[in-house]
Amino acid sequence: MASRTAGMLLLAAALLLAAGSSSLTAVEAAAARLPPPAKGLSYEYYKKSCPQAESIVFGFLQNAIRKDIGLAAALLRLHFHDCFVQGCDGSILLDSTSEKSEKEAPPNVTLRPSAFKAIDDLRDLLEKECGRRVVSCADIVTLAARDSVHLAGGPWYDVPLGRHDGLTFASQAAVRDALPSPDSNVTVLLKALAKIKLDANDLVALSGAHTVGIAHCSSFEERLFPEQDPTMNKWFAGHLKLTCPVLNTINTTVNDIRTPDTFDNKYYVDLQNQQGLFTTDQGLYTDARTKPLVTKFAVDESAFFEQFKYSMIKMGQIEVLTGVQGQIRKHCSVPNTAAGNGDEMPWSVVETVAEAAESLVL
Ligand code: HEM
Ligand SMILES: *[C@@H]1O[C@H](CO)[C@@H](O)[C@H](O)[C@H]1NC(C)=O
Ligand SMILES: *[C@@H]1O[C@H](CO)[C@@H](O)[C@H](O)[C@H]1NC(C)=O
Repeated sequence: MASRTAGMLLLAAALLLAAGSSSLTAVEAAAARLPPPAKGLSYEYYKKSCPQAESIVFGFLQNAIRKDIGLAAALLRLHFHDCFVQGCDGSILLDSTSEKSEKEAPPNVTLRPSAFKAIDDLRDLLEKECGRRVVSCADIVTLAARDSVHLAGGPWYDVPLGRHDGLTFASQAAVRDALPSPDSNVTVLLKALAKIKLDANDLVALSGAHTVGIAHCSSFEERLFPEQDPTMNKWFAGHLKLTCPVLNTINTTVNDIRTPDTFDNKYYVDLQNQQGLFTTDQGLYTDARTKPLVTKFAVDESAFFEQFKYSMIKMGQIEVLTGVQGQIRKHCSVPNTAAGNGDEMPWSVVETVAEAAESLVL
């Protein structure tokens, strides 16, 4: 009897062990489904230098996005523009000097000032907590986009960190080249994404970011005038014309008519109902290469979330600068050298002088 009980216990222990090891492999399998960190990036990058970095960013955004949900969309789009143009190097944050920069470039003029302000505020907070030039602007943008997705109702995921900030801003021509215009067809989109090693799955999932945020009439009015795009639902076209009654208004409308402020899969339901806003959105449901994935995401939100996480990590590692490349900017809108506050000796001298001047004024 006693030995039988012992045997049962052993069996139970063996079963528990087996269950334990199989759930371990499930975790490993899940991790394996995410793209590995690019060379020079790591999930533990600030563990020593700024262990609170992620909680500082999240705490700040939790509060800021509670007050303005539009900030979540603005920060998500900022990361997309940064990464698509010359890699995720914070170049989108740079103010122009003589030449016009990425920031002033057309598609880019609709990036919201609130997003740039939030990045600067976060940089200040991180500097106070962890010291000067420890956390890069490009990483702040990456973390802000990640947290925005989650704070708007979407999934949370870990992001590899360690990006350095670029030294140069992108020309307007480079921006035009890198960012597809919203009237593009799927062929054009797939080609543009292939150049930066993104595929059709990435295209469909990342476009799902249009589940939040707004657009100006100029971004889709070619679908209303002179005649209505036949792939647009008639009621929806009429609805849009209330906001955009004629060409060239400055009005805006929401990207996702069903749940405009929530990060969910309703964007794909919009597409199934011919209520996608841009040609690039609706095209995903018209084109046979991307339609099956739209259909899948429309009925299976967790499938969308899984692919979105994967594609965001991939996008967040496009042409990153690491190691000896780039720098960690003091101010996100100016490269250290251009401001005369460069990385090396002159930087500390300028700082000291500036601080001395400040204390004199005070
Ligand atoms: C596939 C190519 C894409 C095109 C052609 C495109 C185009 C656009 C356009 C034209 C707008 C509206 C701008 C305006 O009129 O104010 C917009 C907004 C937005 N886009 Fe995209 N986009 C694309 C991909 C992405 C990706 C990959 C993301 C993020 C992962 C993204 C996130 C957003 C967000 C969140 C907004 C709303 C911004 C706000 O409310 O401030 N887009 N997009
Ligand atoms: C997509 O757009 C490009 C550029 O406007 C055009 O050359 C091409 O024929 C279009 N492809 C399809 C399938 O419509
Ligand atoms: C949009 O703009 C036009 C003119 O610019 C204006 O007359 C109209 O009332 C606006 N509509 C909305 C909904 O804001």
